[in-house]
Amino acid sequence: MARSPRIAVIGSANTDLTTFADTFPRAGETIFGNSFDLGFGGKGANQAVAARLCGAEVMMIAKVGADLFGEATVKNFASFGIDTTHVRIVEGVSSGVAPIFVEPNGQNRIIVVKGANDTLKPADVDAAADALRGADTIVLQFEIPLETIYYAVQFARKHKIRCIVNPAPALPANLEHLFAADYFIPNETEAEVITGMPVHSVDDAKKCAGELLSRGFSKVVLTLGARGSLVASSQGMELMAPFAVNPKDTTGAGDAFIGSFSVFLGEGIAEKEALSRANLYAALSTQRVGTQKSFPARPEFKAEWARRGGKP
Ligand code: RIB
Repeated sequence: MARSPRIAVIGSANTDLTTFADTFPRAGETIFGNSFDLGFGGKGANQAVAARLCGAEVMMIAKVGADLFGEATVKNFASFGIDTTHVRIVEGVSSGVAPIFVEPNGQNRIIVVKGANDTLKPADVDAAADALRGADTIVLQFEIPLETIYYAVQFARKHKIRCIVNPAPALPANLEHLFAADYFIPNETEAEVITGMPVHSVDDAKKCAGELLSRGFSKVVLTLGARGSLVASSQGMELMAPFAVNPKDTTGAGDAFIGSFSVFLGEGIAEKEALSRANLYAALSTQRVGTQKSFPARPEFKAEWARRGGKP
């Protein structure tokens, strides 16, 4: 395509405080961890950075606190060349933070304290409306108020902007307000919480995706970690195979998937190939520690895609 895709992320920004340990304490117990990492995170911010690293023009609509983390977050966006015109600093509330605990196999547990993210309201979407109308794709997650997400989905529909909703972390939501999204992309846990159906296998994932379609979504992608991703629509379902890697830290892999997929699709790459590329981009992100700092830049991704012949 002639120009880079324009991606707008309306979402969260957190500071990630990640502890790596062999085990985790029981109530009343103190144990020693192995190492610690401080980094920029938040599902929205991570998706914005992934999209930027993949080559898109990216604008972020977000709120941070008037504290050290907030100021550093704005600088971090700017260092990637992400448009921060609509990232506001708010008084009287902390920035979003996320204590994260990672096991030796790379599996993570996260507690998010939303702080300023919870003050991002529909009025903030309106304040950014002129800029948003120029976007090709609006990307949303669940770390900001649901009313803002519902509003942004309707905004995208009204202005014929592609809309991707990543319901992360899992929350009971009024799905009717989300049906207008072009893509609904939960992981297994999120899909389970939303449908009440277990997702322990690819067959379970197919049943769950079918349920989401029957409820009213037009296109569902279930991200399945090491099993790849499943795309489902009225045209049928297809499992997009995973790429083999040795994961060190899976935190942010879902965000890497969403951010990169929005760009590949925005570049006009056919949907299935865009999903397969996003599978690889997400897999590569698990080979390094942290979230944003684990995401590969486009040349690294391109070389890896070529080295593997574009095949899992
Ligand atoms: O998806 C990973 C992200 O979840 C982390 O960066 C953390 O901030 C939480 O939002």
